[in-house]
Amino acid sequence: MQHNGRDIGTFIATKEHRRFVEFANAVRKNRYIGLCYGPAGVGKTLSARRYAHWDDVEPYLQEGPHSHPSESEALVTLVKSRTIFYTPTVSETVRDMRKTLCDLIYQAEDSIDNHLNYDENFCEINKHNKDVEMLIFDEAERLSMNTIELIRDIFDRRSIGVLLIGMPGIEKRLSRLPQFYSRVGFAHHYRPLTGDELTFVLTRHWRSLGISLDNADFTDTQAVASIARITGGNFRLLHRLFTQIERIMKINELTLITDEVVDAARSALVIGVT
Ligand SMILES: Nc1ncnc2c1ncn2[C@@H]1O[C@H](COP(=O)(O)OP(=O)(O)OP(=O)(O)O)[C@@H](O)[C@H]1O
Ligand SMILES: [Mg+2]
Repeated sequence: MQHNGRDIGTFIATKEHRRFVEFANAVRKNRYIGLCYGPAGVGKTLSARRYAHWDDVEPYLQEGPHSHPSESEALVTLVKSRTIFYTPTVSETVRDMRKTLCDLIYQAEDSIDNHLNYDENFCEINKHNKDVEMLIFDEAERLSMNTIELIRDIFDRRSIGVLLIGMPGIEKRLSRLPQFYSRVGFAHHYRPLTGDELTFVLTRHWRSLGISLDNADFTDTQAVASIARITGGNFRLLHRLFTQIERIMKINELTLITDEVVDAARSALVIGVT
């Protein structure tokens, strides 16, 4: 799977992802503003894109309305998800954001309406229903006071769920905006992988290198412990560490991930590992 030009392998439905989905559903159902925060690289963006089915829906919205909307799988997905995933650009102006965001919402609602009218089962649909039910903003640190005001305005007018995703500390920053903050109903801490789940993900990495991970093998257990310590269960670090592990194993024609291999891989990583 490709995501913004990066190969991320298969998406793993982790416990954190499930917690995220539950959280997002609660925000959406209660029409609150929700905050999701967590360290860099734990998987927030991927979870949110997945929740919005954005890899399918975004290209559809960008290509514009189709002549036979009910035939498009992406449209059916949009009708179900009713979620817009938005990444503000760096220092985006209110004007730019209003234009891009409103275009997206308009496009989505137009497509959904057409689809529902097209499908006779949905004829009874209440026209006053707001079609888009959820807006997700990634990289919320980039939002200026003014764009936050715009979001509050959209939230008040449309009464839809709004979810802001950022790094820890975003909740403190927003708490300085009392009107916005008073509308925040839920906050959710997105955490790194731990315990069995980390082992599960590591097993997959091991397998992708063509070797199997044996819990009863001391070398394996030791390597797993080292990786857990180095990465802290952070997805992005795991990926980067394994790229190095793979390289080192290939160069040295090794067939086993030992503590030494992990250590060599760690020292090849420049940033992010302490
Ligand atoms: N559920 C998952 N399954 C497989 N890989 C994942 C998963 N979640 C994250 N990753 C991997 O970790 C990388 C980082 O994930 P992501 O970009 O979602 O992190 P983030 O929390 O949004 O980080 P940042 O705060 O820096 O934006 C992804 O590119 C992918 O390689
Ligand atoms: Mg992100």
